[in-house]
Order: sequence, then structure tokens, then C-alpha cells
Amino acid sequence: MQENEVRSAPKAPLAFRESGNGVPLIWLHPFPFSGAIYDQQLTLGGIRHIVPDLRGFGDSAATAAAESIDDYAGDVIALADSLELAQFAVAGVSMGGYVALSLARRSPERLTALILADTKATADTDEARTNRFKLIERLESEGASALVDAMFSKMLAPDTYSAAPAVAGSVRARMLRTPVPAAVAALRAMAARPESSDVLGGWSKPALLIVGASDAITPPADAERMHALLPSSRMHVIAGAGHLAMFEQPRAFNAAVSAFVRDLQ
Ligand code: MLT
Repeated sequence: MQENEVRSAPKAPLAFRESGNGVPLIWLHPFPFSGAIYDQQLTLGGIRHIVPDLRGFGDSAATAAAESIDDYAGDVIALADSLELAQFAVAGVSMGGYVALSLARRSPERLTALILADTKATADTDEARTNRFKLIERLESEGASALVDAMFSKMLAPDTYSAAPAVAGSVRARMLRTPVPAAVAALRAMAARPESSDVLGGWSKPALLIVGASDAITPPADAERMHALLPSSRMHVIAGAGHLAMFEQPRAFNAAVSAFVRDLQ
């Protein structure tokens, strides 16, 4: 097997990439991206990186749409089973964090640690749900450019758009490549996701929270709330980052993950 080549496991519905050796860590990507958004994390040593494309996204595009966040979580368990991974750590950014929380609720015995970045444990408000359904209508008539119109300006820290145009351009291009059926399914699944704050209160294993200081979608207050609910957690606020801290400020993000994973060994 070549490091980082796209693979599909016989019994799992997801395409995934794998590289490195060490603590097994499954990276769950945010909406509306694919596992490729984590390329800058794969240099982190001491980790066996497993990076799936969630159902319908990236190289898992041919798979039938998910109906709930639990469906995505079920796919992750199927992937771990096919890799014969009895236990693994999980890192989820935003929607990936919702999937990580579903795993923590459904299969806590499979997880060794939780990394939750730029995400939250609360369910959608009525207003957020209404906005998701409006975006679904726009997606169905306008295609993926509706995602850019609705979300691109909230993805990064305000300064990043002018100071790092290549970063911003890459985020925009990735958003435009989103398969519309995957985006529609994920928006419905996120709208229906349950409140997960109770999962955090019962989580006794290691937990790391990371958030961009300028995250406009899941601001630092959401991370602070999760930090207060978790019996034991570390929290890092990343300066100069918005909602995609791992992509915008990979060095600071990776340093926080690296220190956390070192202590798991
Ligand atoms: C994400 O980044 O995964 C989404 O923005 C999360 C959300 O819309 O709740």
C-alpha cells in the first residue's frame, strides 16, 4: 500500500486515506469539504492518520446519501471494523465534530480520545434549521455556488481573505466542487441532529477542544461551554483563525494536537 493513496475497504462504504504510524486517529471533516481538507495535519508524527471522505463527499461521492449524523458515525465504525481497529481516537472539525459526538454517544468503548475543533454540542436552533432548509432550496436551483454565497465569508478569520488569498481561494474552490446531493443530505442531517451536551458530561477519557479566535460559525463561546461540561479537557484558542483553524493556522493547530496525542501514548 502506498502512503496516502485513496483506498476503499471491502466492508466499509467510505473512501479513505491512511498514512503514518502511531496512535490511530480518524479525522472527520467539516461541511462541505472532504478528507483532503486535513492534508496539512498528515505531517504530524506519532499518529496513524485515517482520513475518510464522509458519505457522498470527495471520493465517497458515489455512495448513497446519509439520512442522519448517526449514519455518518455508523460508516466510521464500519471503516474501523474493516481496518480491525478495536479502538481509535477521533478528531472532528465542525460537522466532523457532530459525527464524533455521535460516536461518543453510540460507541464510547471504541474511542480512546476526542478532539473537537470549531464545533459545538448543541442542536440547531429553529432559526438555524430554517436557514439550512432555505440553503437546500438554493442548492437545488443554483448548485454549489449557493454554498459559497451563504458560507464562504464566514469560513475564515476576516484578515485571512486579504492576507492569505491562496488559502481563501482554495477554500472557495473546494466549496464549489461539493456534490449537491451530499450537501443536501448533510444539511438535512445537521438540522435533525440531537442535543449532545449530555455526552460531554459523561465523557471521562481525554478530550481536546480547539477553536479559531475568529470563528463566526461556532465561536469560542461554544468551545468554552463544552470545556465547562467535560470533566477533564484541554482547550486552545487559535489566533488568526476562523472556522477552519486546521487549514488556516495549521502550525498552531498541529502543535495543540501533537501535545495532546503525545500524552495519550
Ligand atoms: C461545518 O463547518 O461543518 C458546518 O458549517 C457546520 C454547521 O453548519 O453547523
